[in-house]
Amino acid sequence: MTRIKFDDQFFESENDETVLHTLLRNNQQVPYGCKAGACQCCLMRSLENTPSEKSQVGLKDTQQKQNYFLPCICIPENDMTIELPNTGATWLESEVIEKKPLSENVIFLKLKSKEPLAFFAGQFVNLKNEAGVIRSYSIANIPNSTHELEFHIRILPNGQFSRFVADELEIGMLLSVSHAQGSCHYVEGKSEQSLLLVGTGTGLAPLYGIIRDALENHNHIGKIHLFHGSRDASGLYFEDKLREMEKNHSNFHYTPCLSGEVKSRKYTKGRANQIALEKFIKLDRWRVYLCGQPDMVLQTKKMAYMQGASLKEIYTDAFLS
Ligand SMILES: Cc1cc2nc3c(=O)[nH]c(=O)nc-3n(C[C@H](O)[C@H](O)[C@H](O)COP(=O)(O)OP(=O)(O)OC[C@H]3O[C@@H](n4cnc5c(N)ncnc54)[C@H](O)[C@@H]3O)c2cc1C
Ligand code: FES
Repeated sequence: MTRIKFDDQFFESENDETVLHTLLRNNQQVPYGCKAGACQCCLMRSLENTPSEKSQVGLKDTQQKQNYFLPCICIPENDMTIELPNTGATWLESEVIEKKPLSENVIFLKLKSKEPLAFFAGQFVNLKNEAGVIRSYSIANIPNSTHELEFHIRILPNGQFSRFVADELEIGMLLSVSHAQGSCHYVEGKSEQSLLLVGTGTGLAPLYGIIRDALENHNHIGKIHLFHGSRDASGLYFEDKLREMEKNHSNFHYTPCLSGEVKSRKYTKGRANQIALEKFIKLDRWRVYLCGQPDMVLQTKKMAYMQGASLKEIYTDAFLS
């Protein structure tokens, strides 16, 4: 049994329990989002022992050296004394300027940040509502001078944040937005390189931003192949925009895939990742982007590597929840 000292109180952790879980079980008010080591909302600092390597994955070298760690993926091996970072996360106020349905369970949300927010298309931000609920969402547009951010938000039946977006969030209301994070974005240079992008559901959001960035801002001339997967046609919510993009850019190719019943020849039957990897067997020198459902992302990353893609050229965003 290990003991966690936080805010001058001691908490006993149960077997295999993360530090975050111990704190929440004891009704401590600490920030968190994904609970899976992706969003970095829960960042804390250990004041005694060096935290486990695993709990520091994705943090900057300087943060690691100062014993910062992610309590949501830290199972303590020794007693710990911890504190919230005194730097505090910087949140920018943003106003909802557009909200509309993209499909039965996906909402398009446009925010206007009151201050400039630097980002690469494809990165994600954490959104926080007034109740303090924080979740990560990928930015679906490209950087612009009006500080606008676009999101595709899938509504889960009992999802705390997504239901808030669907039922309560209105135009004119404010949300807090974190700085942009993540390495899943277009990388300048190698404009002749072939790009393979695979996304399921709202995994399309970052991919759409990346493709626009490649074509509109970087004049990417290599082939760009997007495979978007959904169970049924209603989930292919950007079909018209992507077909239009295909008409305007001869190097862009869009393959909408349906894992459920296929009623039209416009769609390819099967899972987007399998169809993509069967079509492109050799991925040496390709750049690969994988976004959406975590199992799909992990499995496809392994397969893409086995089919020749370099791990350095595989960019992923697993929508952990
Ligand atoms: C880096 C990153 C980027 C992301 N980008 C996006 C994005 O662009 N768009 C987007 O929509 N989401 C995105 N997500 C996911 C998002 O952060 C939230 O996890 C998601 O919106 C759910 O939050 P919630 O508060 O609505 O649900 P929560 O209250 O957190 O509930 C989630 C729970 O719902 C359960 N669940 C999962 N799927 C289903 C289902 N089909 N039916 C019923 N229950 C289910 C899960 O088991 C989980 O326990 C991203 C996540 C990460 C980590
Ligand atoms: S809650 Fe810990 S990293 Fe997201």
